[in-house]
Amino acid sequence: MAMSGEVCVVTGATSGIGKATAAALTAQGAQVVLVCRDRGRGEAAAAELAAAGGPVPRLEVADLASMGQVRTLADRLSALERIDVLVNNAGLMAGQRRVTADGFDEVFAVNHLAPFLLTNLLLGKLAATGPARVITVTLRRAHRGPS
Ligand SMILES: NC(=O)c1ccc[n+]([C@@H]2O[C@H](COP(=O)([O-])OP(=O)(O)OC[C@H]3O[C@@H](n4cnc5c(N)ncnc54)[C@H](OP(=O)(O)O)[C@@H]3O)[C@@H](O)[C@H]2O)c1
Repeated sequence: MAMSGEVCVVTGATSGIGKATAAALTAQGAQVVLVCRDRGRGEAAAAELAAAGGPVPRLEVADLASMGQVRTLADRLSALERIDVLVNNAGLMAGQRRVTADGFDEVFAVNHLAPFLLTNLLLGKLAATGPARVITVTLRRAHRGPS
């Protein structure tokens, strides 16, 4: 329970690394906020984590391909009492190029623009909390650029 009383936001928490990260933080006593784009999958992940014990996770629904939804998510997260850790984990690898409603390549929007915007919008809250951390999960391949 080393993180008891701390609030951790994890994006893309319905599966994979994000879900495992949320489970590990919950097991350490942190209050985890799961950011998921699909409410049903988010509720399933939250229920699974809650069943394992520790603080019951909170769910926030946002499609990070939409910069408008990133902004409204940041508004809601800013209303939290504190944010000790922000884990920008949500990401995808698309087999086929898709363009978002904002006009961005979907992978660029979700993997790069969304974490950049969300982090910047939450900087004040993170700084006000104290020694907060921002962790961004990425792909080594991203440094090579388009192939
Ligand atoms: N697995 C690897 O080998 C590996 C290696 C290096 C880096 N990474 C990075 O690690 C991170 C997690 O990867 P993973 O393997 O755990 O992948 P994953 O199991 O596919 O999980 C990706 C998560 O991101 C969410 N997501 C995708 N698009 C989203 C959107 N538009 N809005 C909100 N959430 C969205 C997914 O939600 P849904 O459930 O709704 O799809 C899911 O929860 C990614 O950033 C990835 O680039 C993975």
